[in-house]
Amino acid sequence: MVRTPVILWLATAFACANYGIYAQPSPDVQKRISAAIEAAANSTSIDYTAFVNPFIGTDNYGDVCPGASIPFGMVKFTTDMTGYAPAGYVTDNTQFVRGMSPLHDSGTGSSLGTYGNFEIMPLLCPEGFETCTTKLAARERLRKNNTDEASPGYFALTLDNNIKLEATSTRRAGLERFTFPSGSTPFFVLDLANDLPASFKGGSMDIDPDAGRITIGGFWGSSFGPGAFQYQAFACYDLLDNGKQKLDQYGVWTGDAFGLDAKGLGQTHLNLSVNLIGGVYESGALFSFSGKPSQVNIRVGVSFRSTAQACANAEAEVGTASFEDIQKQSVALWNERLSKVEIDVANTPPNVTEMLYSSLYRASLTPNNATDETQGLFANTTSFYFDSLYCSWDTFRTFYPLMTLHSPDTYAQIVDSYIDAYRKRGWMPECRANNLPGWTQGGSSADVIVGHFAVNYHNEAAALGINLDELYAAQIADAEVNPPEWNIEGRQVNVYKEFGYVPFAVLDTSSTGRQTREGSRTLEYVFEDFAIRQVAQLLNKTDDEAKYTNRSTWYEHVWNPSVTSDGFHGFMQKRFSNGTFAFTSPVDCSPNDKNDSRACSLQSNNIVGFYESSSWEYSWFVPHDTANLITLMGGNSTFVKRLDHFFDAGYYLAGNEPSFQTPIGYHYADQPAKSVQRVRDVVFSNFDITPAGLPGNDDQAAMATVLSFHLLGLYPVPGTTELLVLSPFTPKYTIHNDYLNTSTTVTVVGFDPKSVNGTIPNGAAAYVKSVSVNNQTLASRCHFDFYDTFRIGADVVIEVTSNMTDVNDCGASVPQSLSTGGFASAR
Ligand SMILES: *[C@@H]1O[C@H](CO)[C@@H](O)[C@H](O)[C@H]1NC(C)=O
Ligand SMILES: *[C@@H]1O[C@H](CO)[C@@H](O)[C@H](O)[C@H]1NC(C)=O
Ligand SMILES: *[C@@H]1O[C@H](CO)[C@@H](O)[C@H](O)[C@H]1NC(C)=O
Ligand SMILES: *[C@@H]1O[C@H](CO)[C@@H](O)[C@H](O)[C@H]1NC(C)=O
Ligand SMILES: *[C@@H]1O[C@H](CO)[C@@H](O)[C@H](O)[C@H]1NC(C)=O
Ligand SMILES: *[C@@H]1O[C@H](CO)[C@@H](O)[C@H](O)[C@H]1NC(C)=O
Ligand SMILES: *[C@@H]1O[C@H](CO)[C@@H](O)[C@H](O)[C@H]1NC(C)=O
Ligand SMILES: *[C@@H]1O[C@H](CO)[C@@H](O)[C@H](O)[C@H]1NC(C)=O
Ligand SMILES: *[C@@H]1O[C@H](CO)[C@@H](O)[C@H](O)[C@H]1NC(C)=O
Ligand SMILES: *[C@@H]1O[C@H](CO)[C@@H](O)[C@H](O)[C@H]1NC(C)=O
Ligand SMILES: *[C@@H]1O[C@H](CO)[C@@H](O)[C@H](O)[C@H]1NC(C)=O
Ligand SMILES: *[C@@H]1O[C@H](CO)[C@@H](O)[C@H](O)[C@H]1NC(C)=O
Repeated sequence: MVRTPVILWLATAFACANYGIYAQPSPDVQKRISAAIEAAANSTSIDYTAFVNPFIGTDNYGDVCPGASIPFGMVKFTTDMTGYAPAGYVTDNTQFVRGMSPLHDSGTGSSLGTYGNFEIMPLLCPEGFETCTTKLAARERLRKNNTDEASPGYFALTLDNNIKLEATSTRRAGLERFTFPSGSTPFFVLDLANDLPASFKGGSMDIDPDAGRITIGGFWGSSFGPGAFQYQAFACYDLLDNGKQKLDQYGVWTGDAFGLDAKGLGQTHLNLSVNLIGGVYESGALFSFSGKPSQVNIRVGVSFRSTAQACANAEAEVGTASFEDIQKQSVALWNERLSKVEIDVANTPPNVTEMLYSSLYRASLTPNNATDETQGLFANTTSFYFDSLYCSWDTFRTFYPLMTLHSPDTYAQIVDSYIDAYRKRGWMPECRANNLPGWTQGGSSADVIVGHFAVNYHNEAAALGINLDELYAAQIADAEVNPPEWNIEGRQVNVYKEFGYVPFAVLDTSSTGRQTREGSRTLEYVFEDFAIRQVAQLLNKTDDEAKYTNRSTWYEHVWNPSVTSDGFHGFMQKRFSNGTFAFTSPVDCSPNDKNDSRACSLQSNNIVGFYESSSWEYSWFVPHDTANLITLMGGNSTFVKRLDHFFDAGYYLAGNEPSFQTPIGYHYADQPAKSVQRVRDVVFSNFDITPAGLPGNDDQAAMATVLSFHLLGLYPVPGTTELLVLSPFTPKYTIHNDYLNTSTTVTVVGFDPKSVNGTIPNGAAAYVKSVSVNNQTLASRCHFDFYDTFRIGADVVIEVTSNMTDVNDCGASVPQSLSTGGFASAR
């Protein structure tokens, strides 16, 4: 999603070249992971967390949070750095550490950052309390090179003054451990006001010196949404380590960048309102410990409801447990998640193992489970509640389809949270950020997320707490009820329904929103309508099925056959309400755009008609009816030439969600071996095991999950039960679905490790020759159905060959498309 504008992508590419100077994380991280992968070859009890590299995506604008978290944890402890660091941490060792904090998101591209509240920074104040550097700019420090460490459930970093910071966590709490140079008095500064986007809107702090407890509560603003909204958050810091530590001095402080640097020794209360003239005070607590202990343990609880609940969370989830106990619990929770996918480690290239498990890790890192931590309209909900659905446009394509394979129960909890938003706000969230409605990107992509759940798990829905009629009602609200302002939820359906597309420069007398992205909004609305059509079919709502089947064809309304680019004819274009197309060059906002200052994202001067994409890129986006897109583009052979040109000429963006399915487009033109080649190239050209190993924002594990599908040799069609079949990067894997009590093993017969390469060498078996399920050879080697495979627990055998020409067709059928009779009935 919210990727940095084109101008910054270019800067990114340039920065990559300097990557070698960075000295983080510790080289021990990779050594430890490589050793674990090697040892696992001969082991029967595998610790999957040992394969995870939390630092992948912490450079090159990947925006991954490597902090200590449990699966879907609300708490993610990491350090907050200066410079561009939306998730708090970045590897860039020229950036300074300002402290460590418990709330973060992972893989969101909000350029200002998200959360980072309640930051603590250990200090050496040899000249005493009054001389402590409390303010952000004064206290920030570099790290010691080659020291950053992280593994699932653990984060550590050592400052250049030799103070080591460590953290481990539970869902809403955790423990911090600080090791000081011997002989020093440990001082700490703790923020009331600061967060990453500098959005403080008022709050208070209290120090209870006898209890050794500091409580903080306040209001902050969104990291990716209207500034008019605010959310509340609370923290509870327990300083005495169950009586083993003793406070020495304590007090409060305020500061600003222009001389204010005031401290109140012995004072215990701060209550600051929002600063209406602008700017944020820096303010908080300052305290030290007596007896010069070399180690200090601090317990932290957070809440979105109250300080009392923040303290209760710390008591209930951490209590008197040790750092090691909490870390062990976290590792166990992670193993439960990661072991849902088992691979043949011994015969899988080690980088593939590391990429896969690191991706699966991030696929369970977000969204943040804030159940029982609700506020505002959701205050008393009895539903599950997930924060940071950030954003649905990013996650509907691969994140939820991957979860579909193994974790319907988790999926159902998130679907419940989406439907609950419909109950309370009238529409499902598109981009819930910091508990607030964030900006809409394509439309109401939640329709696809809940629709995908419905078609894959309708038999289990009721048992999983999902009422399908209500799920459908939520979809219909998105599709039919125009919100007064559609930048934060719903869609501009009034004009979409009237014209059959979202017109450019249209008079809309009943709703407001940023009048841009008409081409991409139409394409996304259409696909959302297809997902509704799928649920209508499932629920036998015949009239609705016909209606939304018709709306599923409206992508044709923005297809302008007369636009030509690089010799290819026909492109998606925005269109006036009188039917005339409003020409924009298909190259605009692509990597080949010569104008690198063009607005391509949410800006009001994005005039190309597409969101964070070019027309070259979005013109492929008709996942439910590619057969007709092929016809529009001039037939199979032109379509294949156009795909080749798209990649070879550099229009493809691996890090952009609308492009996710494009490398597999060859399947639909009956040339599946070319998809296999393209995916191998996409993976090795864009992903690796280094911190810069993602092609941009992880986008709440959108990148992690598209990579997982590529490595597993599968690709999902969202809103359907169809899976496209490609060539796995591992000879054998098993996916366990504990809820259905099924396990499916995929075995690659003829697997050749040499084929696991960006360019498949001649003679290396990589191309799918046949696919069989439970010993039955399928008529098509290009696709199968979830109901015939992962749902029932099957033995899937994919036989591969090195003879590409021999197998470069699907056999009996290409994957389904609506206009050629596909998706004819629900499973
Ligand atoms: C694993 O076992 C194989 C065969 O028994 C042996 O060759 C190899 O050295 C072992 N690897 C490790 C890491 O122990
Ligand atoms: C880390 O290494 C860089 C050279 O790569 C050096 O310039 C910098 O001073 C080092 N940082 C610290 C804190 O020692
Ligand atoms: C902070 O001050 C405001 C207004 O002065 C008051 O309404 C509020 O109750 C105070 N909050 C706390 C926690 O002291
Ligand atoms: C939640 O419950 C409290 C206490 O009953 C009530 O005051 C409040 O209005 C409720 N909030 C919502 C959003 O329903
Ligand atoms: C979220 O938290 C609730 C409350 O503890 C728990 O019941 C639920 O299983 C959690 N879900 C996930 C996916 O972590
Ligand atoms: C829809 O119709 C099919 C075929 O008659 C039936 O098996 C299914 O139970 C119906 N589903 C619903 C939700 O009514
Ligand atoms: C449609 O409206 C646009 C914008 O006002 C205008 O440029 C175009 O000429 C109109 N087309 C027709 C057929 O009137
Ligand atoms: C593309 O090839 C498939 C499979 O051979 C065929 O069914 C389809 O009709 C072809 N499409 C066009 C537009 O010719
Ligand atoms: C594994 O990844 C590292 C880091 O990107 C790279 O240097 C190495 O070439 C990769 N090895 C293989 C076999 O791909
Ligand atoms: C791909 O093949 C080339 C040429 O044989 C080789 O140098 C390279 O290491 C291979 N890459 C991987 C990832 O195995
Ligand atoms: C497939 O065939 C093999 C060998 O004949 C047999 O052992 C196995 O049980 C069969 N699997 C299934 C699911 O029928
Ligand atoms: C590949 O398959 C084609 C078609 O079946 C055949 O003509 C060709 O000889 C095969 N090539 C090799 C190298 O086996």
